[in-house]
Amino acid sequence: MKAIIPTGGMGTRMRPMSFYINKHFLPVANKPLIFYPIEAVADSGVKEICITYNPGGLDLVKEYLGDGSRWGLKFNYVVQESPRGGLADIVRVCEKDLEGDKFLLHLGDNIFTDGIKLQVDRFLKEKLNGMVTMVKHKDNKRLGVPVFDKNGKLTDYLEKPENPPNDFAIPGLYFFDNNVFKCFEGKGKITPSDRGELEIRSPYMWLIKNGFRIDVVEYKGKWLDPGKFDDWIDSNQYLLDRTLDPKILSDVGNDSKISGRVYVGKGCVIKNSEIRGPVSIKDNVSIIDSYVGPYTSIDEDCLIEGSKIENCVLMTNVKILKVKQQIDNSLIGPEAEISGNGGHKDCYEFFVGEKANIKL
Ligand code: G1P
Repeated sequence: MKAIIPTGGMGTRMRPMSFYINKHFLPVANKPLIFYPIEAVADSGVKEICITYNPGGLDLVKEYLGDGSRWGLKFNYVVQESPRGGLADIVRVCEKDLEGDKFLLHLGDNIFTDGIKLQVDRFLKEKLNGMVTMVKHKDNKRLGVPVFDKNGKLTDYLEKPENPPNDFAIPGLYFFDNNVFKCFEGKGKITPSDRGELEIRSPYMWLIKNGFRIDVVEYKGKWLDPGKFDDWIDSNQYLLDRTLDPKILSDVGNDSKISGRVYVGKGCVIKNSEIRGPVSIKDNVSIIDSYVGPYTSIDEDCLIEGSKIENCVLMTNVKILKVKQQIDNSLIGPEAEISGNGGHKDCYEFFVGEKANIKL
């Protein structure tokens, strides 16, 4: 059994963050998003992963992920020539590297918090040709939706339906054996949808139509889909709550107060400040005359001075300086700077780029 984890695509919903770096490498609870799927695959017992990437993106992806050995895995890098090709196209481009093995496709921006071992074991034990999972989801209009008969057999697979027939969604975890590659060839081959993509529903529909064994199983654990702003903040919150390992690796002066579960990395300076967990602070961060409230994760080299923040994700090298009003519920990209104007002028001043989103 092998796995595919994509790192490509356009990341349009995460702009402007994804202009700077592909969304898969942005941090959730101070860890690059893609590390969660890699860890889930490693824990399931699978040893080899095809990592797909956009043309021109190989160096950056390799810089983050290496050869896989840090997770006890072997990575094969595979280019997806057309980043808008769709999820089924990702399967297609990996055919050679999968060497005829069964495989799973785990989207690089999905987090299955209870791991995926049960699902991998079931797929192998039942000798299926394909399998999907489903989760209960209120907002399934923007997701894949399963349709099944009264025996639980998958009969249809809808992509982003306007009127979903039930409240289940199919998250980004897909299983196949090598019969799937037949759907890309010959007269009945699958074709792009109206939005021009080879949708992941199409191989499943092809397999069902051609009499192959496809199963759908419910995923009972918590599924996170941090593909857009609100979901990113929610996922950060959920993971800080459950996975934060409290540890203080820097000296904190008597003039500061730390309460709740807080991680502080090395080389940090914390002066005359209050930090109320759960909060994760990476290395070389300075917090001076400030308040950092629950559900905040702060990446390396940030500076917060004379300000109050809560429920925020700060990426590397962010500066927040002397801002009067509390900053809440915010995602702040690498190297951004937010500062008060010292109260001299009764106005706001901006230097912001394309797709920025500011609420005052
Ligand atoms: C994709 C799939 C969709 C699935 C979702 C999970 O949607 O097409 O079926 O439910 O991932 O994250 P996208 O995120 O590309 O809109």
